[in-house]
Amino acid sequence: MTLAPKDVSYVRELVFDRSAIVLGEDKQYLVESRITMLARDLGLGSAEEVIARLKRDGDRTLEERVIEAMTTNETSWFRDVHPFNALKSVIIPEAMERNAAKRSLAIWSAACSTGQELYSVAMMLDSDFPELSSWKLDLVGTDISRKAVEKAQSGLFTGLEINRGLPATMLVRYFVRDGSGYRIRDDIRNKVRFGVLNLIEPWPPMPLFDVILLRNVLIYFDMDTRRRILGLAKQQLVQGGVLILGGAESVLSLVDGFVPVTIGTTTVYHKDKENV
Ligand SMILES: C[S@@+](CC[C@H](N)C(=O)[O-])C[C@H]1O[C@@H](n2cnc3c(N)ncnc32)[C@H](O)[C@@H]1O
Repeated sequence: MTLAPKDVSYVRELVFDRSAIVLGEDKQYLVESRITMLARDLGLGSAEEVIARLKRDGDRTLEERVIEAMTTNETSWFRDVHPFNALKSVIIPEAMERNAAKRSLAIWSAACSTGQELYSVAMMLDSDFPELSSWKLDLVGTDISRKAVEKAQSGLFTGLEINRGLPATMLVRYFVRDGSGYRIRDDIRNKVRFGVLNLIEPWPPMPLFDVILLRNVLIYFDMDTRRRILGLAKQQLVQGGVLILGGAESVLSLVDGFVPVTIGTTTVYHKDKENV
């Protein structure tokens, strides 16, 4: 079934307004297939019915479900490997040196999807930095998608999801079988906290972070939104804190006050000391 172009435009505009995600004109098929899937989940007859309800009722919960349906939650364990090597070899040791007196470390996975990114950090800290066991760790994951956040909170993953990048040693050490899937061990799950946060809405009070992972989300936004979010991320970092973006993302020519630093094959961005 093909949606009328005006219905596709309606969804594209709604999604842009509420989440800043840009769905190009070539995304007709994506809109149709995702809204059709949502209709099925909600027990509605068709994608048209979802859109008719949206227009008629202004139902915020349905709007939220539509936006959620249009997000791409693609993620994996230790995604791209190199940023995690950079964390392990340089970024975490430097942050620990800087924070030695207060013995606390705060890391934020902004746009965390279903949690693999933040859990990867938590497992790495546990296995490679045993001295952190007596530190105050604040490991925070947020995402616009409630469904993704709930899955992250559950810590339960299918075999297929586990197969995407999780080293066998980590599986054995940090997961237990749960039905046909695997659940992350409670002691790791208890080290992290997840919540819903739309990056384009006002950010709630949060601590200043030593590291912010803002990976593979700016690519969905236009330049103004990228600029605005990068500016806010800078304010949310401690002096000397580090921003890690996705492989296809950069701060260059978008925002001042970050110094690019290359570690191995990864470029990360240090908050410039002038930008307190
Ligand atoms: C491709 S995933 C990236 C996940 C993870 N950071 C990684 O690199 O593997 C992009 C995530 O951005 C989230 N997202 C999209 N727009 C957002 C917004 N306005 N605020 C917060 N999260 C958003 C999506 O829900 C999705 O989970």
